[in-house]
Amino acid sequence: MIQTLTRLEQLRATISAWKREGLRVGFVPTMGNLHAGHYSLVTLARQHADRVVSSVFVNPTQFGPNEDFTRYPRTPEADTRGLAAAGCDALWLPEVEAMYPFGVELAAKIHVPGVSGVLEGACRPGHFDGVCTVVTRLFNQVQPDVAAFGRKDFQQLAVIRQLVADLQMPVEILAGEIVREDDGLAMSSRNQYLSPDERAVAPAIHRTLLAMHASMQAGVPRARVEAEADAALRSAGFVPDYAVVRRPDFSEPADGEGGARVALIAARLGRTRLIDNVEFDLPA
Ligand code: PAF
Repeated sequence: MIQTLTRLEQLRATISAWKREGLRVGFVPTMGNLHAGHYSLVTLARQHADRVVSSVFVNPTQFGPNEDFTRYPRTPEADTRGLAAAGCDALWLPEVEAMYPFGVELAAKIHVPGVSGVLEGACRPGHFDGVCTVVTRLFNQVQPDVAAFGRKDFQQLAVIRQLVADLQMPVEILAGEIVREDDGLAMSSRNQYLSPDERAVAPAIHRTLLAMHASMQAGVPRARVEAEADAALRSAGFVPDYAVVRRPDFSEPADGEGGARVALIAARLGRTRLIDNVEFDLPA
């Protein structure tokens, strides 16, 4: 049985009661319109905690002025049912006033320099400030021992790890694997914006990432791998924001150098912007 909590006092009372019993609290923050990827994070959090809270809050401060805040899908009933089935104990469903008591304009903001400025941060100015601002607030509200984030948002995970380390927050960050449709498309709430024709094309992002991995393994120079990926995406009908291979800290590796890599793509298909990535190792 899941409890739905809409007031901060209710949330705090619930968490305090659990903590008095010595229970560990796991947390899965979301923006709702939940899918199997989110539910796998609930399962992951449950493996590291005695109780799991998930939040659904479409955070206005992480959307740019021309982005999809108003049309972002809101499906609270289905989300509640899905979370209950996934074994979540409580759903934190704050109104915007509970999250930003002084209003969005006067809200204290959190900026994590460096890692927030490249790739997604460069394409979506202010996006990670909004994410860090809301995640800090959510952590203050929920006071979790562990919190789970998906690897599909590879850069978001890195930004949050840095936020937690720098502000010395007592929260362990767990990373959940990317959950894919049968044809390889990474699950995302934004997939439902795709028309049937676009949906048929969308798995090309994952195929392109796999081709980037294969080319890097074969020793193809990185600049060529990235140029070929960009061309493949364009010929499939995408407008790429980036298609790159980086070290996990987003620095640019030299050709011939071994170590951990991530191929990352962000690309638009019609009005829908999709992101995905593949992590791999190159031999030294
Ligand atoms: O990944 C998301 O869904 C959001 O960025 C998050 C972490 C819930 C913050 O609004």
